[in-house]
Amino acid sequence: MIDAPLDHIAIVVKDLDATVALYTETLGFSRVYREIVADQDVEAVGLRAGDAVIELLRPLSEDSPIAKFRGDAATKLHHTAYRVDDIRAELARLKAAGVRLIDDEPRPGAHGNTIAFLHPKSTGGVLIELCQRSV
Ligand code: CO
Repeated sequence: MIDAPLDHIAIVVKDLDATVALYTETLGFSRVYREIVADQDVEAVGLRAGDAVIELLRPLSEDSPIAKFRGDAATKLHHTAYRVDDIRAELARLKAAGVRLIDDEPRPGAHGNTIAFLHPKSTGGVLIELCQRSV
C-alpha cells in the first residue's frame, strides 16, 4: 500500500440531497455516480475531486452501524480509501504484518469497485478501506 493513490474519502450524511446540493451547486464539484450499495446498506453519491472521489453516504436504515456512527451529526467523516492493484495480495500482506482486518474477504463496493476494510484499532483510529477498481 506504499504510495497508494487516494481513491475516495467517504462522509456519512443525514440529508443526502442537501449535502449533494452543497457540494455541486455551491462548491462546484461534479457528480460521478449515485447508487444504492446494498452490501453496505447505503445510498452513495460520488463527486469528482481530481483523480479521487468524495463519496457521500446516506444510511438506508437508521439502525445500521453507519447511522449509529454518524449519530446526531449532520455529516461525519467515515473512512479514507486507498487504491490497490491486487486487493487479495494486499490483505494477505497486511494480515501477515499483524493488521486486524474487518474483511478477510473482499466485497462489492460502490461504482463496481471491490473493497475491504481494515480495523481502526490497527490503523490509528481512522477506518481505512482498500479499493480495487473494476477497470
Ligand atoms: Co468507501
